[in-house]
Amino acid sequence: MIGRLNHVAIAVPDLEAAAAQYRDTLGAEVGAPQDEPEHGVTVVFITLPNTKVELLYPLGDNSPIAGFLEKNPSGGIHHICYEVQDIRDAAAKLTASGARVLGDGEPKIGAHGKPVLFLHPKDFTGTLVELEQV
Ligand code: CO
Repeated sequence: MIGRLNHVAIAVPDLEAAAAQYRDTLGAEVGAPQDEPEHGVTVVFITLPNTKVELLYPLGDNSPIAGFLEKNPSGGIHHICYEVQDIRDAAAKLTASGARVLGDGEPKIGAHGKPVLFLHPKDFTGTLVELEQV
């Protein structure tokens, strides 16, 4: 069901420093920060030859990653995103197998303008999994 790894998202306590490290130390192609108010994050996209890394930094008062950074003050891997062809079909199969889709279970439009949903980390070996329809 899942296809390519679309991205790995890393929550960071200092977006400027993390972006500079990927650009200057690791020599990666690093984009400009983008505010995503509806997701409560500012994102820097890092484009690698085979996938992307997204640096996430809290935006606004109710950012979904604020609590994560409180527990992980130096940052950490927040979620991984796999591509699927049909997100509703994927959600139906996963729900039928007992996995929990977060929120109201309906796909939302993600940071790339495509439908996404998140799966409960306790159902996937402690990893928050995002599915993105491509
Ligand atoms: Co993501």
